[in-house]
Amino acid sequence: MNAAQAQALHHASTAPDADAFVRIVDVVKKFGEATAVAGVNLSVARNELFALLGSSGCGKSTLLRMLAGFEEVTSGRIIIDGEDMAALPPYKRPVNMMFQSYALFPHMSVAANIAFGLKQEKIGPREIDERVADVLELVQMSKYARRKPYQLSGGQQQRVALARSLVKRPKLLLLDEPMSALDKQIRQRTQIELVNILDKVGVTCMMVTHDQEEAMTMATRLAVMSEGRIVQLGTPHEVYEYPNTRFSAAFIGSTNLFDGNVSVDNPDHIYVECAALPQPVFISHGITGPLGMPVTLSIRPERVRLTRTAPDNTPNQAPGKVCNIAYMGSYTLYHVQLASGKNVMANVSTLAFDNVDPPSYDEEVFVSWAPDAVTVLTK
Ligand SMILES: Nc1ncnc2c1ncn2[C@@H]1O[C@H](COP(=O)(O)OP(=O)(O)OP(=O)(O)O)[C@@H](O)[C@H]1O
Ligand SMILES: [Mg+2]
Repeated sequence: MNAAQAQALHHASTAPDADAFVRIVDVVKKFGEATAVAGVNLSVARNELFALLGSSGCGKSTLLRMLAGFEEVTSGRIIIDGEDMAALPPYKRPVNMMFQSYALFPHMSVAANIAFGLKQEKIGPREIDERVADVLELVQMSKYARRKPYQLSGGQQQRVALARSLVKRPKLLLLDEPMSALDKQIRQRTQIELVNILDKVGVTCMMVTHDQEEAMTMATRLAVMSEGRIVQLGTPHEVYEYPNTRFSAAFIGSTNLFDGNVSVDNPDHIYVECAALPQPVFISHGITGPLGMPVTLSIRPERVRLTRTAPDNTPNQAPGKVCNIAYMGSYTLYHVQLASGKNVMANVSTLAFDNVDPPSYDEEVFVSWAPDAVTVLTK
C-alpha cells in the first residue's frame, strides 16, 4: 500500500459518513420480481481502491451500473462528491465505467479508440491529441498508438481500455472484472501496474472481481457480497483474519471449518466440542452467546501445524493420516484425514523441510493449532 492509499484507508475508517466521496444509501434494485441488489449501504473515501467481491450473480455489476447511471435504482440514493445522482444521466456523471468485456473498436487505431469519447464531448483536436498522448504514456502504450486492437496482446488491450476510461478524467472510475480476459501471469503484473497508475492519477476506484486474491492484493478495503447484500466490509487483512460469517471465511481464502457447540463458556476462554475432533477445542478468548450455542470454527491452513509426534503443549490436536500432498512452490499443502473422516488442510512452508524428511502419503501425523488461531463464527 502506498501513502495515498494509507491515508485514504485511515480516512475511510475514521471519517463520518457525510464526508465520504461515494455514498450508497439503502440502494435496492429489482428486475421484475427478482431482487438483484437488496439494500446496500456503503461509503467509499476519496482515493480508495475499493473492491466488490462475491460469487456469480450476487449483484456486483448491477451495483456498479447503478453508480454509472446505466440502471436506475428501484429505491435508495447514490451521492458522489456531495452530489445526488438521481437526476443525472450517465454522460453527466463524474464517473467512467470499464465494462466486464471491454470491447475496443476493431477498425480504429489505439489512439482513435482512446480519443473517441473526447470527440463525442466536442473537445478541440489539439487538447484531444495532448490528452491521448498523456494517457498513452501513463499506461506505457505510446509506441502502439497506431496499431489496431487485433495487433495487441490481451494485456496491452486491457491497458488501452483503461486509458480510454482515464482519458475522460472521471472522479470515480468503475472497473468491472478489469482483468478477466488476462491469463494468470499477465494478470498479476497488470494488478501491480494498475494500482500504480491509479495512484498516479489520484482517482477513486471501485472494482468488481470474483478473484479474492486480486481483491486482497489491490484493494484498500473490500466488501464481500452474497445475494444482493454486503455480508462483510473491511480491509483485506481484517476480512481474512476475522471473517464474520461462514460465507466470508470460505469465500476469502481457503479454510478449515468445524461445526460444534460451546461446552465451556468463560469470559476469557471457551471450549468448543466438535463432532469431527477427538477433544474439545480450547480458544483463548470469550464470545457472546449462551452455553451450548452452535458455532463454526475457522482455522486457516497456514495456522495448522503438522508433526510426526503428538505435541504436548496443546489440547488442540488430532491424529490423522496424510491423504494428499500438493507441492505449491513456497509451501506444500497437506490434506490429513482424521479418524472422524474429516479432511484437514495444512500449509507447511517448504523451508521447514530443509533438515527433515517431509511426511509422505499415508503416513500417521498430528495436526495441531494455537488457541488464538481459531476464529469462532456464529453466523
Ligand atoms: N437486465 C436484467 N434483467 C433481469 N435480471 C437481471 C438483469 N441484470 C442482472 N440481472 C440479474 O440480477 C442478478 C445480479 O446480476 P449481476 O450482473 O449484478 O451479477 P454479478 O455479481 O455481476 O455476477 P458475475 O460475477 O457473474 O458477473 C442476477 O441474478 C442476474 O441474473
Ligand atoms: Mg458481473
